[in-house]
Amino acid sequence: MADGVGRAEACANIALAKYWGKSPQGGNLTAVPSLSLTLDNLRTRTEVRFSDDLETDEASLDGRPASGRVLTRITELLDRLRAAQGETRRARVVSFNDFPTAAGLASSASGFAALAMAASQALGGTLDPVILSSVARQSSASAARSLFGGFVELGAETDSARPIAPQDHWDLTMLVAVVQSGPKPVASTGGMVHTAATSPLYEAWVRSAPGMFEAVRRAVLERRFEDLARAMEQSALTMHATMLAAQPPIVYFRGTTVELIDRLPRWRDAGLPLAFTMDAGPNVKVLTPSEHASELTRRLEEFPGVGSVIACRPGPAARLLELTGSLEAARPLTEAARPLTEAASSTGARS
Ligand code: DP6
Repeated sequence: MADGVGRAEACANIALAKYWGKSPQGGNLTAVPSLSLTLDNLRTRTEVRFSDDLETDEASLDGRPASGRVLTRITELLDRLRAAQGETRRARVVSFNDFPTAAGLASSASGFAALAMAASQALGGTLDPVILSSVARQSSASAARSLFGGFVELGAETDSARPIAPQDHWDLTMLVAVVQSGPKPVASTGGMVHTAATSPLYEAWVRSAPGMFEAVRRAVLERRFEDLARAMEQSALTMHATMLAAQPPIVYFRGTTVELIDRLPRWRDAGLPLAFTMDAGPNVKVLTPSEHASELTRRLEEFPGVGSVIACRPGPAARLLELTGSLEAARPLTEAARPLTEAASSTGARS
């Protein structure tokens, strides 16, 4: 029985085939398909507590009160779930990340995925990840993918993400080379709208992204690392080229980002298998077969301008946390990982 409280944990994901651009259909549907890897080491934990004595929703993120656009996005997600459940109470949301927020480390992905699951639990709503993926996607499209573990795709103009291969499908490690961890200069939503409106390359991006997505998808399913590297890097670099051609340009790279883009292929040519990608921020994420992770970590840590390296393995699906004790110490509930029954998904929260 729902008592107005829910807790969930979700992992960030990094797209191997990128999403950049909204569908003209609206509703935060994406213009291009994307495919990501959920990462075990970049987690958000969120508690949602509905209460009679609140006049507005309140949220604290990493110990700081949320306001402005951040709080509005949280309220909009809660409103969709409230409408589905006939709920009128406001909520207090407490959330923290175990990684730097807003630095292109996909905190909105894990954040909205954890929020959707925790809030739905608090309201006695659905825990069906397909429906929660749609709820999260309407807030932030990459969040749709964080409901699932392993390798996950989100089709163009598609409501929910879906997993294409489980967490243990391929023993890869994603090394996040943190170049700078301040807030990003342009938030991704605004950046996409600006790119679509002003970049002469945007149409070409929308036309070519599905082919790169297919190549990434095939390489993942067949575990062909060289093919994955080629398609993954082309997807990231085409996305950034499209933004660089906007007017004025959107430049997420810093000097160290460019130095790494130049250096990494040379390490690969000398025998170290790797594939890099960059999101809406300066950090460089480098994927490698896990047996090469320690050598690559060492080189990245020594690289001038790299502050730290976060090593991540393929991560699990979003899951509920036990409701007792502190949010920090709460253990995952194994029930959340079980396949969902018809009964669990029949109280749909789709708005
Ligand atoms: C570069 O999901 O943050 O990380 O839907 O507007 O919230 P909104 O955008 P968001 O965009 C992520 C863009 C990306 C690539 C990706 O994750 O596919």
